[in-house]
Amino acid sequence: MATLKAVRGTRDLLPPETALWNRIEATARAVFARYNFGEIRTPVFEDTSLFSRSVGEETDIVSKEMYTWEDRARAQSEKPQSLTLRPENTAGVVRAYIEHKLGETGQLQKLYYIGPQFRRERPQKGRYRQFSQIGAEVIGPPHAGSESPLRDAEILEMLATLLDELGITGWTLELNSVGSAADRARYNETLRQALIPLAPKMCEDCQRRAVTNPLRVLDCKVPEDQPIIETLPKIVDSLDDESKSHFAAVTVALDASGVPYTRNHRLVRGLDYYTRTTFEFTHGGLGAQNALLGGGRYDGLSEAIGGPKAPGIGFAMGEDRLVLTLQALEAAKPEKADAYIAPLGETVNAAALALARELRRSGLTIELGDGSFRLKKSFDAADRTARRIIIMGEDEVASGILTVKDFSTGIQTKVPRAELAGVLKAPSDQ
Ligand code: HAM
Repeated sequence: MATLKAVRGTRDLLPPETALWNRIEATARAVFARYNFGEIRTPVFEDTSLFSRSVGEETDIVSKEMYTWEDRARAQSEKPQSLTLRPENTAGVVRAYIEHKLGETGQLQKLYYIGPQFRRERPQKGRYRQFSQIGAEVIGPPHAGSESPLRDAEILEMLATLLDELGITGWTLELNSVGSAADRARYNETLRQALIPLAPKMCEDCQRRAVTNPLRVLDCKVPEDQPIIETLPKIVDSLDDESKSHFAAVTVALDASGVPYTRNHRLVRGLDYYTRTTFEFTHGGLGAQNALLGGGRYDGLSEAIGGPKAPGIGFAMGEDRLVLTLQALEAAKPEKADAYIAPLGETVNAAALALARELRRSGLTIELGDGSFRLKKSFDAADRTARRIIIMGEDEVASGILTVKDFSTGIQTKVPRAELAGVLKAPSDQ
C-alpha cells in the first residue's frame, strides 16, 4: 500500500519549530493588546459569493486559487450552497462586522486574527496551499474616525514595532495610494489606452490583463516586461485632491514617528477592495516570495457586500514567512531544557521523578533520563537536549548533594538540593 503523505502545499509543523510559531503568536498578541485590539475568530469556510464580491471576480485568488465546493442541500427543495475555504480573512471580518451590527456601537472596531488560509497556488519556498496569517483590521462608521489618515499611520507604526519585537531586522516598508474607486477606474482606463500598442510585446498574462484588468499588469514579474511597465502612466497622476492629501497626511505622521518607508508606484495589490493607502513589508531574505505582509484601506468593502458605510484599514502577515525570516536571521535557535536529570541505576528512578517534579514546579524545564542508561548514554542525551546535567546516584539521594555539570562552561559543581533551583535559574552561556 502506498504510504500516505501530507497533501502538496500543506505541511506538518513539528517541534522545535512550533516553539517559534508560539513565540511569534505570543509576541503578536502582546503587541495587539497594547494597541487595544481584541481577537476575532471567524469560520474557516464561507459562502463563495463573499469572496467574489469583496476580493473580486477578476483577481487570481478568486478566478483560480479558491478551494470551492457545492455543499449538499439540507432539504430536497433547497439548492446546494457554494462554499469556499477562506483564502484570506478580511472579507470574513467585514461580514461579521455587518452580521453582528458592530457599527451600531458607534465605536471603531479593532480586531485581530490568527489562523489558516487556503489558496491553490503553485507551492514553492514561502508559498503554500495552507498557510497561516496574523492580521488585524480597524473598521467603523466614519463618525468614529475610521477614515482618518492617522489610523493608517498608527497601523504602520504598530507593524514596525511588532517586527522589531519579533527580532526581524532589515525589512522595507513599501507604500502607495490607489486612490478612490473613481480614481482607480480612471487609472484603469488610462492604462488600458496606454497598453494598446504595448501589450502585443508583453507576456501572455499581460496581454490578457491589458484587456480584463489593466491594473494587474503592474504585478507582472517577467523580466522582459519590466522596461515596458516602467514607461506606463503612474497612478499618482490619477489621484483626486482628497486622496492626495490623505496620502500626504499618512506620510507626515510616519515621518514624525520615525518609521522609514519607500514609495512604490506599482504597489496596487492583488485584491480588488483596496482604496487609498496600500502597503507591503518586504524582506530580502525571503527570495521570490518576498512579502512578509500586505494590507491597505478598503473604504467601500462593507457596502460592496451589503453593509453600511464602514471604512477600514488592515493587514495580514504571512506567519510561515515570519518563521522563515527568523530562521534565516538565526534569531531562532531552539531552546534547550534547563537541565537533564540522570538517575544512576533504576533504584534511583523514583527519587529522580520526585526531583524533576520539584524543579518543574519551580518553573524550570527539565528532561528526565532513565536509570537503565549507562552514564555515557545519559551524557549524550543530556548534551543534545539540555544546558546542564544533574547526576543522581544512591549517594546523592542519601546526602542531598547533587553533581551538576554545565555544558557551556564544562564546570562540574556539587549543589545542595535546597539550592538547586536557584543555581539552575542563573543564566548559562548556551
Ligand atoms: P495578501 O497580500 O493576499 O493580503 O496576503 C498577506 C500576506 O499573506 C502576504 O504578504 C504573505 O506574507 C502571506 N501569504 C499570502 N499567500 C500566501 C501563500 N500562498 N503562502 C504563504 N504565505 C502567503 C491579504 O490576505 C489581505 N487580506 C490583507 C489585508 C488585511 N488587507 C487589509 N486587511
